[in-house]
Amino acid sequence: MKAIRADLLDFVDTPVWADPSSAGVRWRPDHWLLIGDDGRIAGVQPGHQPPGPGWTCEDHRGRLLLPGFIDTHVHSAQLEVIASYGTELLDWLHRYTFPSERAFADPELAAAGAARFLDALLAHGTTSAVVFPTVHKVSADALFTAAHARGMRIIAGKVLMDRHAPDGLRDDVAQAERDCIDLIQRWHGKGRSRYAVTVRFAPTSTPAQLAMAGALLRADPSLHMQTHVAENRAEVRWVRELFPEARSYLDVYARVGLLHRRGVLAHGIWLEEDDLPVLRDSGAHIAFCPGSNLFLGSGLLDWPALTDAGVGLSVASDVGGGTSLSMQRTLAAGYQVQALAGRRLTAWSALHAATLGAAQALQLEDEVGRLEPGLVADLCLWDWAAGSVDARRQQVAQNLHEKVFAWMMLSDERHLASAWVAGRRLYDRAFSRATT
Ligand code: GUN
Ligand code: ZN
Repeated sequence: MKAIRADLLDFVDTPVWADPSSAGVRWRPDHWLLIGDDGRIAGVQPGHQPPGPGWTCEDHRGRLLLPGFIDTHVHSAQLEVIASYGTELLDWLHRYTFPSERAFADPELAAAGAARFLDALLAHGTTSAVVFPTVHKVSADALFTAAHARGMRIIAGKVLMDRHAPDGLRDDVAQAERDCIDLIQRWHGKGRSRYAVTVRFAPTSTPAQLAMAGALLRADPSLHMQTHVAENRAEVRWVRELFPEARSYLDVYARVGLLHRRGVLAHGIWLEEDDLPVLRDSGAHIAFCPGSNLFLGSGLLDWPALTDAGVGLSVASDVGGGTSLSMQRTLAAGYQVQALAGRRLTAWSALHAATLGAAQALQLEDEVGRLEPGLVADLCLWDWAAGSVDARRQQVAQNLHEKVFAWMMLSDERHLASAWVAGRRLYDRAFSRATT
């Protein structure tokens, strides 16, 4: 049984858009968080009431303890193409990403890549993720195996793509269906792993493969779904040519039954207005990927338009389209994307979307996303500052929002001291590498 003393911050409700007053925020400065032997949060109590004998205590007064971040859209096989120069989405896929993903056909390479990826996530303060591996069954298997060894909550699935991709990166409908069924039996619900039916995006699946993906979801409503939608204008035009019968890009997915309550659609920048009620009624949500949207020049998502329409939203790194696994860097990019369009993202809306909001969107709120007794102890301990500039900014901050907003804008993985997954410390800066 362990106890950690720090400043505790989490959310109990959805913050109001553009309102820096702290509705929805739970701020418990200088508190103990207790972790039971079952890896769950056992309690929270004020700093002046130390836990009794039997508790191993760590005093981190003056540091910030948050629920581990949830990255709802990231590619485990794209670390090696991060920061590739000079292209928009479709050229980026063909020039950099597809060639790099081919290597994940090799089981040994896939295993090493999965381990490197998950350890990097933990070293950036992300303890749960919704992940695209590659088209290769072994890449999904390797990812689940590595996540299971670390006890991490991972939602993933073999990527479906049977056209418009180079040799070595295409499956076919029958083999893909067999691979999915096998992986679902092996991994869906095992430990903290869950399976997501994973269509890469409409252009790389034939209508027959999209129909097969929809049928998998209908056969087991407990599955998740992940894909990309309406990220880039040339992509949207291509989808219109490939699927002239569909009302919109989103409609390609709606027609085959891919939209459902546990669906994550990355981007959604160029959705049609008529798509919003369809998305809202399905319960699927949009993963806002601002770092990627800026880097690939994809566009500026209108966050409040989605929430006003009742559509859910989480925030995601989309590495390797995004240039950092750090959720603070991603949220800082999110602030800048909204600012470019004259809107203001508070630290509360941003951090909520990366914790409780994401957990709710994935129907995982009874497990992760808050510092609440009974939830799994997926936690990250952060420094408020790591250099003279952010230290001074913290000193002069006048109120809680100012302090947390400055932290969000100025911090990154260098501020992470420790990360725990189900109560086990898997990252410790003192060893400056992830440990398992
Ligand atoms: N659309 C289809 N595949 C991808 C991908 O790997 N990354 C991004 N950002 N968009 C995609
Ligand atoms: Zn992506």
